Amino acid sequence: MSIIKQHAKIETNVLLLVLGIFVTVIIGGLVEIVPLFTIKNTIEEVEGVRPYSPLELAGRNIYIREGCYNCHSQMIRPFRDELERYGHYSLAAESMYDHPFQWSSKRTGPDLARVGGKYSNEWHRRHLVNPRDVVPESIMPGYPHLLKTELTFNDAAAHMKTLALVGVPYTAEEEENATADFVAQATPDADHDALLARYPKAVVGDFDGQPEKITEMDALVAFLQVLGTMVDFTKFDPAAADAIR
Ligand code: HEC
Repeated sequence: MSIIKQHAKIETNVLLLVLGIFVTVIIGGLVEIVPLFTIKNTIEEVEGVRPYSPLELAGRNIYIREGCYNCHSQMIRPFRDELERYGHYSLAAESMYDHPFQWSSKRTGPDLARVGGKYSNEWHRRHLVNPRDVVPESIMPGYPHLLKTELTFNDAAAHMKTLALVGVPYTAEEEENATADFVAQATPDADHDALLARYPKAVVGDFDGQPEKITEMDALVAFLQVLGTMVDFTKFDPAAADAIR
């Protein structure tokens, strides 16, 4: 009996066919899924990526609360037009500490994955209060209340502990200093050495034009200013990263 004939048997018998498909899918599934249980992490770590500082974390929470993701993505795809407009494509590692991630699926406004350092704090402040002040044709809504709402973030450590439960490697030292770091980052004349040792590349200073108080605007702008700046792409080599895996 030729193999063709046996195949015809399977194709003409629904039960055999379904059984055959079932067995094939199970084997395929096992081959794909089982190896994942033997490795700790499916994301290759990239130098420079760190958990958010308390002020950035507060800003991220405001970004989510205000629904910025409804109009903005945070994922640059590896296509030429995107690379030319936004910069290096996003790496999985760059959002590995985002819970939930902010890749989003809709771009009414531009992608924000690398907006950090693109504009001054003052530009962001003016833009968020009334986008038309800096981009006359903008259809983005204004968020002037952020400038008025003061922020203490007394529960920063609790937020960090919760994120630690899902794998963000906050240290005990970072949790203990959460409130102090939160205040220091938004206070221009504070001592920033310890903060910067814990959170390299954090942008420090006054973000909302009101150095005497910390508002939601400070936190949101601090978050925007760090987006996409953690990895040094002059040193990043995707081929080398592949080799580690
Ligand atoms: C209704 C859709 C919409 C929402 C909601 C929205 N934006 Fe925008 N955003 C836009 C559009 C459109 C632009 C482009 C025009 C402009 O620069 O204002 C933009 C531009 C921006 C830019 C400048 C990006 C660049 O590279 O030039 C930033 C930063 C930004 N938005 C941040 C935010 C933040 C933070 C929030 C939430 C507080 C937010 N947006 C909510 C539509 C939106």
